[in-house]
Amino acid sequence: EAALVESSKKAAAYQAVKDYLKPEYRHVGIGSGSTVVYVVEAIAELDRDITSKMAFYPTGEQSRQLILNAGLRLSYIEDLPIDRALDVAFDGADEVDDDLNLIKGGGACLMQEKIVATSATKFVCVADFRKISPRLGTNWKKGIPIEVLPMAAERVLLELKEIGSQEPRIRSGLPGKAGPIVTDNGMLIIDAPFPPLLLPKDKESGVKGGNGEDGVWSVDALAQRLINIVGIAEIGLFHGHNGLQIARGAQKPVAAYF
Ligand code: A5P
Repeated sequence: EAALVESSKKAAAYQAVKDYLKPEYRHVGIGSGSTVVYVVEAIAELDRDITSKMAFYPTGEQSRQLILNAGLRLSYIEDLPIDRALDVAFDGADEVDDDLNLIKGGGACLMQEKIVATSATKFVCVADFRKISPRLGTNWKKGIPIEVLPMAAERVLLELKEIGSQEPRIRSGLPGKAGPIVTDNGMLIIDAPFPPLLLPKDKESGVKGGNGEDGVWSVDALAQRLINIVGIAEIGLFHGHNGLQIARGAQKPVAAYF
């Protein structure tokens, strides 16, 4: 299956770049993970007369290196004028539901990914077929990645349990090695498993719950609840709600490629 997964990632990446990277674009976001490697590969193969006019904005150290190694022009989101948007941002996902809500952060990047995604007028998700699932939490069982301030981690764990997360835990480093994973931002990651997250169509078809009773949440309700927990810096749910005032794009992608 490994070869199939790789070819699926590659095909999705090349197609997404073909459809969504327009020659007139100037500012392009590049996400993190193993699938984005193929996005950068596809961009690097394009005509240099076109891509040399573009600046590429990374979501962390890994994508910064990818951009540099491909010989593309690196820029930083904090240097993008506040009245400008990225023309497009490409990023991977850990799980994608029927409404194109995403779980992200499996690779411990998520806060910078969300800043880049919400700074883009178009956000395009690139993923392999394993990521498709009707409801978030069905395939990706490890839980929703949540970036937390280290001093608040234990309190956040407690509150997550109170709202129905089953065995949330602080992500630790290599198996057998002591010590937690620290993000590019000096934060810790908590992985918080929840029962599969409901969508608006579930309510329409008469499914009850979604407000957290019995730990059953809808995507939107859970996202709102989580972001209100003190000590949480950002959550790995990328959903329809546009959380940031300055956001010019939605957190939800306009398209997903598999
Ligand atoms: C990084 O923390 C994530 O949000 C990635 O975008 C996500 O984990 C997808 O990574 P892969 O493309 O390696 O599956």
